[in-house]
Amino acid sequence: SAAEKGGFDWFMRKEIYDQPKAVADTLLGRHDASGALRLDEIRIAPEELRAVDKIIVIACGTSFYAGMVAKYAIEHWTRIPCEVELASEFRYRDPIVGPTTLVVSISQSGETADTLMAIRHAREQKAKVLAICNTNGSTIPRESDAVIYTHAGPEIGVASTKGFLTQLVACYLLGLYLAQVRGTKFSDEIALLIDELDKIPAAIERQLGDLDGVLQLAADFADAPSVLFLGRHVGYPVALEGALKLKELAYIHAEGFAAGELKHGPIALIEDQLPVFVVMPPPGRDLVHDKVISNIQEIRARGARTIVLAEEGDEVAAPYADVMITLPKVPTLLQPLVAIVPLQVFACELATRKGHDVDQPRNLAKSVTVE
Ligand code: G6P
Repeated sequence: SAAEKGGFDWFMRKEIYDQPKAVADTLLGRHDASGALRLDEIRIAPEELRAVDKIIVIACGTSFYAGMVAKYAIEHWTRIPCEVELASEFRYRDPIVGPTTLVVSISQSGETADTLMAIRHAREQKAKVLAICNTNGSTIPRESDAVIYTHAGPEIGVASTKGFLTQLVACYLLGLYLAQVRGTKFSDEIALLIDELDKIPAAIERQLGDLDGVLQLAADFADAPSVLFLGRHVGYPVALEGALKLKELAYIHAEGFAAGELKHGPIALIEDQLPVFVVMPPPGRDLVHDKVISNIQEIRARGARTIVLAEEGDEVAAPYADVMITLPKVPTLLQPLVAIVPLQVFACELATRKGHDVDQPRNLAKSVTVE
């Protein structure tokens, strides 16, 4: 009913608007006033965490894209090699897993069969398994050594939104906690990042208050046969997730690419009027910002329509954008938390315009309990 949806047309739209609270709830109580992390729920002893020599993140769908972001953050902050793998591929390739491997599963539902089978395999190989999960008492956390619960609240829309954002938060908390336990970052650096995380809910709230441009885009591109998304560094998983949302909800052909790969193939797809979303890294991130600017020029030169998601004040990107969507200024590794929001809204709005059932897209299930 409309009341359950808090006055919104769809659960998904409500869940998009719930995101500031979901993020804040997931941060709540997990650090003290000095910015030191308190993750007592990780029942893996600090000595064991110090002995970890490899991390493998396993997940499916949207949760997999959260895992891709986790790799960038965890490796950067902890210097522990971190792989990320689709759960459905993991156990079938004879992965190298042992007692000093930390396997991190990410699952909103905690019931996804592919992910469950993967962690069972990891445990048979004596790996430690830590679940990032939104559903208390579900199967995956029950079968894991430890769990970090995301506190998104129930997610009803089949396409994950607040589930994804809170998974990202849990991954950042895990990365910073490992850095704290292993001493790979100074405590003041950790405190600074925690402080930046604490500012994210307000930043998303501001974004949600300023969506006219995105709603207009959905109107403009409602008949587009295909939409591309480009991103680099942590913008790459954002591009993949932006494309997934559009496939799931609007049934439009959509693909995400690593911007640097454009020249190695996808550029052949660029044609007149094709909408191309580009997630710009924050300016000043060594040479990557310039390289993505060149990508936009190449796309534009071929007549495509560029929709550029760039940090507010990014004067360099603005002239190359047909449409500019500004993002709040946040540290680079945290940018997915704000970059995905307009893409969620775009997909939801476009699917609504096409008359699709946004909460129950065709052929999809909220949790897939068969392999
Ligand atoms: C299904 C859903 C996706 C979800 C994926 C993983 O395919 O339709 O939205 O991302 O499962 O779900 P999980 O509950 O494991 O995060």
